[in-house]
Amino acid sequence: MLEVDNVTKRFSGLVAVDGASLSVGSGQIVGLIGPNGAGKTTLFTMIAGFQAPTEGRVIFDGEDITRLKAHQRARRGIARTFQIVQPFAGLDVRENIAVGAYLRHRRTIEAHARAEEVAERVGLTPVLDMQASELTVAGRKRLELARALATEPRLLLLDEVLAGLNPSEVRDIVPVIRAIRDDGVTILMIEHVMQAVMNLCEEVYVLAQGRMIAHGTPAEVSSDAGVIEAYLGHGAAKRMKAGVAGDA
Ligand SMILES: Nc1ncnc2c1ncn2[C@@H]1O[C@H](COP(=O)(O)OP(=O)(O)OP(=O)(O)O)[C@@H](O)[C@H]1O
Ligand SMILES: [Mg+2]
Repeated sequence: MLEVDNVTKRFSGLVAVDGASLSVGSGQIVGLIGPNGAGKTTLFTMIAGFQAPTEGRVIFDGEDITRLKAHQRARRGIARTFQIVQPFAGLDVRENIAVGAYLRHRRTIEAHARAEEVAERVGLTPVLDMQASELTVAGRKRLELARALATEPRLLLLDEVLAGLNPSEVRDIVPVIRAIRDDGVTILMIEHVMQAVMNLCEEVYVLAQGRMIAHGTPAEVSSDAGVIEAYLGHGAAKRMKAGVAGDA
């Protein structure tokens, strides 16, 4: 469904993404992990069309969409969530979700009906009339998910939707994400919470300093020496193997 082909993004002197490739098959949940500043969010902005790559191509459903605008990609079925959630503070939860639904429903009554269906799927029904600004962090994360889902995507890009949640909130939302996939939405997710990655993803890509350094099952990548080094520093894999890494 999605092919990212040798994509590079340069910001003046800095190479944020450096010849990265990945592919996501229809119906999959694929993870994208990597240390802070690796270029994960930048890669998402190029898939969703908020920024154009310096080099490389993005293919969706066999079609080159590299030069399409974000709204054109949204119409084709690509939706993303934002790492820094910023709900429309003056609107209630129903209206916030409806912002996504207006992509395919022009009339308010239809957009609101769509918003209510989506709220049910992500567990926001009890707070539909609440001001978005009154939501807890976990509530805002669900709202971010709902707004993206309301655009009726076929490919959903989740940028750290579990960040800032406590372990019990993570446990509550994992089945919500799985159910979205089971309803036919393909998911590519950036995530630092490894427990959730292990639970949800069949395949994981690892980005470090802009380069794709590993790809495999969650178990394969988490035992990969190069991945351990990228997270814990040079020589870490060897130290761990030798058992001298202490608590690392
Ligand atoms: N618009 C921009 N202009 C200049 N530099 C940028 C821009 N956006 C991102 N960068 C830089 O690109 C690099 C990759 O950033 P990015 O946000 O993609 O990383 P990330 O993997 O999502 O990190 P995190 O895990 O902290 O969210 C960083 O060095 C960042 O400072
Ligand atoms: Mg990021």
